[in-house]
Amino acid sequence: MKKSNFPKDFLWGGALAANQVEGAWNVGGKGLSVADVAIFNDRLERNDYAGHNKITSEQIKEAMNPSSNKNYPKRRGIDFYHRYKEDLALFAEMGFKVLRVSIAWTRIFPTGVEDEPNEEGLKFYEDLFKEMHRNKIEPLVTLSHYEMPIYLVNTYGGWFGREVIDCFVKYAKVVFERYKSLVKYWLTFNEIDSIIRHPFSSAGIVMDRYRKEELEGVIYQALHHQFVASALAVKYCHEIIPDSKIGCMITRTLTYPATPNPEDVLLAQKENRMNYFFSDVQVLGEYPLFIKSILKEKGIEIKKVEGDDEILKQHTVDFLSFSYYMSLVSSINSEKMEKVGGNLTGGVKNPYLKTTAWGWQIDPMGLRIAINDMYDRYRIPLFCVENGLGAEDVVEEDGSINDDYRIIYLKSHIEQMGLAIADGADMMGYLAWSPIDSISYSTSEMSKRYGFIYVDQDDYGNGTLKRSRKKSFEWYKKVIATNGAEL
Ligand code: BG6
Repeated sequence: MKKSNFPKDFLWGGALAANQVEGAWNVGGKGLSVADVAIFNDRLERNDYAGHNKITSEQIKEAMNPSSNKNYPKRRGIDFYHRYKEDLALFAEMGFKVLRVSIAWTRIFPTGVEDEPNEEGLKFYEDLFKEMHRNKIEPLVTLSHYEMPIYLVNTYGGWFGREVIDCFVKYAKVVFERYKSLVKYWLTFNEIDSIIRHPFSSAGIVMDRYRKEELEGVIYQALHHQFVASALAVKYCHEIIPDSKIGCMITRTLTYPATPNPEDVLLAQKENRMNYFFSDVQVLGEYPLFIKSILKEKGIEIKKVEGDDEILKQHTVDFLSFSYYMSLVSSINSEKMEKVGGNLTGGVKNPYLKTTAWGWQIDPMGLRIAINDMYDRYRIPLFCVENGLGAEDVVEEDGSINDDYRIIYLKSHIEQMGLAIADGADMMGYLAWSPIDSISYSTSEMSKRYGFIYVDQDDYGNGTLKRSRKKSFEWYKKVIATNGAEL
């Protein structure tokens, strides 16, 4: 057998989010969340931002009306809520060591402000985690993955309201207590940086409720509240589950300068530093100096309460987790350059890279560069908790799905991650997004598929929901069985 670059206890697996898979949006006492108001828009142009960051007050009102007949795909997900046993068995068949899932806050506290948690919601996750253990799969649980209760959006302006910190901490303490014997790996906020790109789904900020000139200040204030809440979650996790490990999670967006022109290089450096800002606060425990000057330039003053800085400093994370899908290019002449779309983030085209059908630039070597940079900076364990290819799959007449493009994408990224480990980085594991087809976060499409397992459902919810193995299923199984030696 070939030699593996991966440590022997490397955590292979996959990652999901409650709002994209569970469905059952109004079952078991669940409250309405920001994900439940995201509409599928069939006029949506590929490469355009979908409705997810343009949700208006009017759309929220309509979504809260029980007779609304719009298409809300995240309300149905892939019915993981009722089918998780079958799905976990398939993940176990691939040999998963870890499955990342998130808890829907609204199953535990439907509005966020109840004094007592909803037992039916707590029981659902207890059963889910027990079933994972029966399948020898360790849960990695995200506390907040684009899920906040809509009640908190309407009452406090989402995370802009400092009151939300207490609501979140109450929720976090309840789940730490309840699952302390079942869950040892935790994450606080999924892609905490995404508040800048899509403030609604990430922090419940409805853009039309603010004047244009005040919006940025609102976003940074809300982010500060999330940082404090994240640090408090770290504190209580350590207190309640002493043998746990809790990490933060960022979107790793590596930016290259378009040319060696120092102005392009400086611009790329600024963008990379912006990306580091979010992990600096959570790993190093303080706002970096560069962000202080950026905020000053923008005229933004974050309101802190006495003790905030100490909380950030004292409760830093045990590991840094990240998603990685693409790299970016920046140029001071960007308006004259060819562009790529991208529903996470667009930008200047990199002539050396291919793009996905959704305009994301595919850059496996960028993963190695990103890992090396992060490890040089922080020297704490890193965990790649999302990486994958969104593509439209074709089901052949005989039922097979030959997703070689996905295998090529994943293989090249895993290879580069192995090289980063050989370069010296301490990597805890690798999770593919999303091991079973799910509702796309950014576009609410079903047809943007990431899975090793195909789900028979279209963008409108038609289909049997039957699960079937794609070609990549056997491939990933072999990768795990050989600990990454055979790709
Ligand atoms: C990450 C999110 O940004 O990217 C996931 O954490 C998301 O929730 C994934 O699904 C892929 O993005 P999309 O929009 O293709 O589903």
